[in-house]
Amino acid sequence: MSSVMTPVTHPVRLTERINRIEPSATMAAVAEAEKLRQQGIDVVDVTAGEPHFSTPQHVKDAAIAAINGNFSKYTPVGGTLELKDAIIRRHSTDFGSAYKREEVCASVGGKHALFNVISVLVEHGDEVILPVPYWVSFKDMVRYVGGKCVLLESDESQGFRVTAQMVEGLVTPKTKLIILNSPSNPSGAVMSPEDMIEVVRLAHERGIWVISDECYVYLNYTGKNFSVGSLNEYRDRFLVVGSLSKTYAMTGWRLGYTLGPAAVVGAVTKLQSQSTSNPTSIVQKAAVAALNSSQQCVEDMRQEYIKLRDHIVGGLRAISGVKCTMPEGAFYAYPNVSAFFGKSGLNSASDIAHGLLHQEHVATVAGEGFGTTEHVRISYATTMENLDRALERMRKYFGGL
Ligand SMILES: Cc1ncc(COP(=O)(O)O)c(C=O)c1O
Repeated sequence: MSSVMTPVTHPVRLTERINRIEPSATMAAVAEAEKLRQQGIDVVDVTAGEPHFSTPQHVKDAAIAAINGNFSKYTPVGGTLELKDAIIRRHSTDFGSAYKREEVCASVGGKHALFNVISVLVEHGDEVILPVPYWVSFKDMVRYVGGKCVLLESDESQGFRVTAQMVEGLVTPKTKLIILNSPSNPSGAVMSPEDMIEVVRLAHERGIWVISDECYVYLNYTGKNFSVGSLNEYRDRFLVVGSLSKTYAMTGWRLGYTLGPAAVVGAVTKLQSQSTSNPTSIVQKAAVAALNSSQQCVEDMRQEYIKLRDHIVGGLRAISGVKCTMPEGAFYAYPNVSAFFGKSGLNSASDIAHGLLHQEHVATVAGEGFGTTEHVRISYATTMENLDRALERMRKYFGGL
């Protein structure tokens, strides 16, 4: 006699905290473009949040040497002393900071560093001031740990620039943290050093934390490059998060870091010791080569981004109805497309991004994921030729509305 077992199915019950967050809007846009590409469609993709340049050869060589030299064991959780020293030296040379080894933790990308810092600082119910437009992950990281984002609306006519006065207006007794991101993804806005100093000063005075996400600090086109890491007198209230991803065209390698007070960096390292452990050993060797060698490759890429920025912004502004602020850093243009709302059933940035993708096969990211409803993000970390193809298709799309 054969007995037939009835399969038992249990509902998938995930935690409340995982249901607080959404998948990254940028990743979703990339996936949608990929679907069309799979169908053989020639998509012009300007979604990428990463340099189109290859990783410099000397960095690759260092990784290859590390593999061949069997540098393949666990390292200290927060990175080797060699790497910590290289991060400290680079930052001190470029910005005049003075960090010690116990004030540095290397992580698996800047995103990981940010997740760690937010996890150890933000408690359930804490308020976190976040300028809009924001990089997609800030909001979800804060929500994941139970914090509440207090959104700081910036002024598009002022290039989305955030000022200390705007930040101060949102401070309440529940404010735990202020997140700064200059140059900004997605707007390219750069805060003035004076405003950054004032935010850090007021945070210090009131016992509030500041995270300064400086992943694009080397892609600043204003000529006034600045890191809050140089503000030694306020150093017990802020953390600098850096990354090699954009600076050295190393997005896939995954190496970022936190600089800050030893008590916080110690907690970050403890959290990391119970999750990922050290960033990949061979990547650490590559990072040392990137940080310790000539920085000419960084300057060469920066100069190229300036040309690409001028080209895309000029092209966008020439399209009737499209308004575009001049980004002062990073590698994104953030044009306002609201003049087309109400035409052909289009009512949002998502509708426009959808139309651009499905009608003209140009992949952009809709502004909703960054907290604004009237913009699309265009990455100009691509070739001039690709930008021209994108512009031609956008002219056709908007001209036909
Ligand atoms: C503002 C900002 N911060 C942090 C990151 C994280 O970069 P990574 O994890 O590659 O260092 C990104 C990546 O797009 C970013 O745009």
